[in-house]
Amino acid sequence: MKKPYYITTPIYYSSGKFHIGHCYTTIICDAIARFKRMDGYDVFYLTGTDEHGQKVQQKAEAKGVTPKKFVDELYDQIIELWKLLDISYDKFIRTTDDYHEATVQKVYEKLLANGDIYKSSYEGWYCTPCESFFTESQLHDGKCPDCGREVKLAKEESYFFRLSKYQDKLIKFYEENPDFISPKARMNEMINNFIKPGLKDLCVSRTTFDWGVKLPFDPKHVAYVWVDALTNYITALGYLQEDHANFDKFWPADLHMVGKEIVRFHTIIWPALLMALDLPLPKKVYGHGWLLFDNDKMSKSKGNIVDPFFLAERYGVDAIRYFLLREIPFGSDGNYTNEALLTRTNTDLVNDLGNLVSRTTAMVTQYFGGTIPAHNEFTELDKEIVALCEGTLAKVREDIENLSAPDALANIFKIVQRANKYIDETMPWALNKNGDKERLATVMYVLCECIRFASTMLLPFIPKTAKTIFGKIGVEVPSNFDGITAFGGIAEGTVVTKGENLFNRIDIAKELKILEELHAKQVAEAQAKNAPKQEEKPQDELIDITDFAKIKLCTAKVLSCEKVAKSDKLLCFQLQVGDEVRQVVSGIAQHYTPEYMVGKTVVLVKNLKPAKIRGVESNGMILCAADDKSVIFVTPEKDMDSGKEVR
Ligand code: MSP
Repeated sequence: MKKPYYITTPIYYSSGKFHIGHCYTTIICDAIARFKRMDGYDVFYLTGTDEHGQKVQQKAEAKGVTPKKFVDELYDQIIELWKLLDISYDKFIRTTDDYHEATVQKVYEKLLANGDIYKSSYEGWYCTPCESFFTESQLHDGKCPDCGREVKLAKEESYFFRLSKYQDKLIKFYEENPDFISPKARMNEMINNFIKPGLKDLCVSRTTFDWGVKLPFDPKHVAYVWVDALTNYITALGYLQEDHANFDKFWPADLHMVGKEIVRFHTIIWPALLMALDLPLPKKVYGHGWLLFDNDKMSKSKGNIVDPFFLAERYGVDAIRYFLLREIPFGSDGNYTNEALLTRTNTDLVNDLGNLVSRTTAMVTQYFGGTIPAHNEFTELDKEIVALCEGTLAKVREDIENLSAPDALANIFKIVQRANKYIDETMPWALNKNGDKERLATVMYVLCECIRFASTMLLPFIPKTAKTIFGKIGVEVPSNFDGITAFGGIAEGTVVTKGENLFNRIDIAKELKILEELHAKQVAEAQAKNAPKQEEKPQDELIDITDFAKIKLCTAKVLSCEKVAKSDKLLCFQLQVGDEVRQVVSGIAQHYTPEYMVGKTVVLVKNLKPAKIRGVESNGMILCAADDKSVIFVTPEKDMDSGKEVR
């Protein structure tokens, strides 16, 4: 039976747009999950969305939609993102899923029954974005110690979890499990900054908003979002549910991968909750560093988002995956720059990997008609390469055990780089020229095997590209590492295809200029969007058809027309309106002469109340179109009898 391996990402807040920093945790977990699957484990990879809380409720209100509608939209967005980035999760949990909500309620009931939660009231410094209360001493310069934003003093009746009761048990657990928190420095941080100063009981319910899981024994309280969120790791497996086969099989988790800012929740609150529930604790919590952007944490509020959809579309999903996995020193913060992404793509993916595959497939095509030949006896040089290939999986496995994707990739690329050097050393073109087909066949065979070894191990990291390479070397995509324990797996006669380049070289200077311009445009657009709005034109008040029906319009024929005495603007009309003759005064004397108007058909507002204009009675109004300069009377497009309705 395969060994189970349970790996999780944090569940993502459903409160804003996702940036490339968010993709970091998920891509690393994906590479590990894929690697473990190929390495013979029965993997369960969980990710999801954290959809409750005040922040979501406030954002939804600001947008004028229900919280559910708000989170549904973000859910669609994140599903699309993970699909684009080839994230191979086994389950996606939403904290608004029925089974999750019901289980969170059961968890609270259990904690209450065990005496692990009690009712009291809470006063403290509250950070709304982090949904966390802090004591005065926990604040950093009076600001939230997690995100650095403003906090406000808040008091509310709450249920409390007896976190203090677990202080000693936690310390004991850390001592007995020195690898529980990783990297090690984060363990010391937790002990010195949080545990040693003394753990306080934790406020685990809220009454100031209602977008959350209602406590079954006191429904005006909703569950604290962090308890709701952390519990996802077990509710997703069926804990306290009818079908709990996955829970029995996969719990405790092998790895909770989290960003460093949420290590505290995963290594103090979560284990204490699990102890209270009498459940085994996860084997490891890994706190990775942040992806920085211009040495600042990427976040929406700081306005320096790098859009993963844009980057993936422009450079390819695997360029993004490769960059994040290879470039960012694992466990520490790493700076994201466009230049670093493009340089990595050019050096490793275009120069090293792309070149090796295109040169090799081109040579097999040119020298052997596209069919991989059988090899002859290996020289010392070949044997060195065979040893490198055969020894790499063990190293990569160890790197993955240490959760170091950069090291794993560096080791795999040693094969790629060595193979490129081997081409220069063996000079196949010279062998061909000299007619040394035997040696040439061996060289081609060794190169194809190098490609097969490297791309088998690259499958977890850059799956799309690795699969394309298998297509090019005519080998079926493997589902495990069995084929790379020994050199010589490629069968003689396998047909290669050169096809298109795996990656195209990027003109970095030119591309950076384009990106800069795009960035400047985005900044300008964002500024324009945030700029105080210019006074808007008053909107027309809308009327409905019954309002319009009140206005009676009809055609009228001008029988006679004369200027109104002592007025240079007014003309007095005698109009034929069906059987009736009407006198109407109109202010169009500066635009039309009385003679011109005689005989014309105009449109009359027939039911306007009679008025006296300059002492002259007017029974209606002639419709005109007007702008600053001219006034033009409205007339039917074809001749029409008078008195006909206009509508
Ligand atoms: N909802 C909580 C987690 C609850 S888990 C029970 C949360 N969500 S989050 O959306 O803010 O973050 C999700 C993950 O993305 C975290 O691991 C976080 O560290 C990671 N990242 C967000 N921005 C990041 C960077 N700029 N760089 C690297 N990872 C970052 O926290």
